Amino acid sequence: MATPTYRVFDPLLPQPQADAMRRLCERFGTYGMYSQEASEAEIGQGLFQRHDAVMNFMKTGGRFGRQADPGALGARTNYFRESYAYGDRIAIDGIEPFLGYEGFVEAARAIHGRPVIEPAIVYANILVAGQELAVHTDVPEFRGANRTKDPEWLMVVMHHSGLFDRWRMPIATGVSWWRGCRGGELALYPDGADGPPSTVPAAHNTAIVLDTDTVFHGVDRVVETAQPLPPLAIGMRLTYEGDDHWRVGFGDETVIRYHWDDVRFSVSWKAYCFADEAERRMTLEHTDDLTRPQIMDALQADLRRRGRLDGETPNGTDLALLMIDEYIRFPPPAA
Ligand SMILES: [Fe+2]
Repeated sequence: MATPTYRVFDPLLPQPQADAMRRLCERFGTYGMYSQEASEAEIGQGLFQRHDAVMNFMKTGGRFGRQADPGALGARTNYFRESYAYGDRIAIDGIEPFLGYEGFVEAARAIHGRPVIEPAIVYANILVAGQELAVHTDVPEFRGANRTKDPEWLMVVMHHSGLFDRWRMPIATGVSWWRGCRGGELALYPDGADGPPSTVPAAHNTAIVLDTDTVFHGVDRVVETAQPLPPLAIGMRLTYEGDDHWRVGFGDETVIRYHWDDVRFSVSWKAYCFADEAERRMTLEHTDDLTRPQIMDALQADLRRRGRLDGETPNGTDLALLMIDEYIRFPPPAA
């Protein structure tokens, strides 16, 4: 894998534009819960989409080796998300300058050493007091393989195996923070899983651009308020009520209210990074796509070479767990 680097922006935007971004977050108004569903794919049926990250979190108790409580896992990690822009589809007026922000485009070029940058998506992630995000790498994309048709853990295995670099579509991710919060630092491992972690505070009007498909990262717990974390359930929404307050619940019902200070608001930007126009065209026209049998054959052959597979190939779920175990090496929790 290429040497990962990152670029920090502090401050990110001039003050008036930064205030406008914060108001845009409020103006969007209501955010649905983002949670993962079990995979329906024939390989690894019943596993979580991000089985790798969930199991590592359960096994280690997260970055600080806290006792993991499986019952509270959903409430801790089911945060809120909405898209502001997706390709040409703009979901809220005023996001266009952020989508095309030249500073991010420049950083993307530098990080991947690729000149043709195509911003693809802008979305908000919101965590409330007591929530955190397990250490992970993001779901990468390949020509012929992506999250819309393949299990997410398989995309992650593919990238970590290094066997499919020719088909990989390098993506640069920018993460920006608005309004600030207590805790909720971004933790990242810029020197790889064996290197020391760095932390970046989630401070207002700051950002980082990096290759989140390669660099392990997570979000440390947002400082808990006096209230214990309530049973946040799938289907609840987070809604801005005005006057610096947010409300969580189904429909008009309120399960809990949060002050802005107890809410971690980030806006992420992702862009495809192409080597040249020819590569971009090859992607658009699907002239060099991977197929699922090609992927599975390459992984199984490699597992046999590594001595992890011998004799008959195990069933889909066992094979999936073997691949996750062999290829995805997480950073150890802090001592
Ligand atoms: Fe991520």
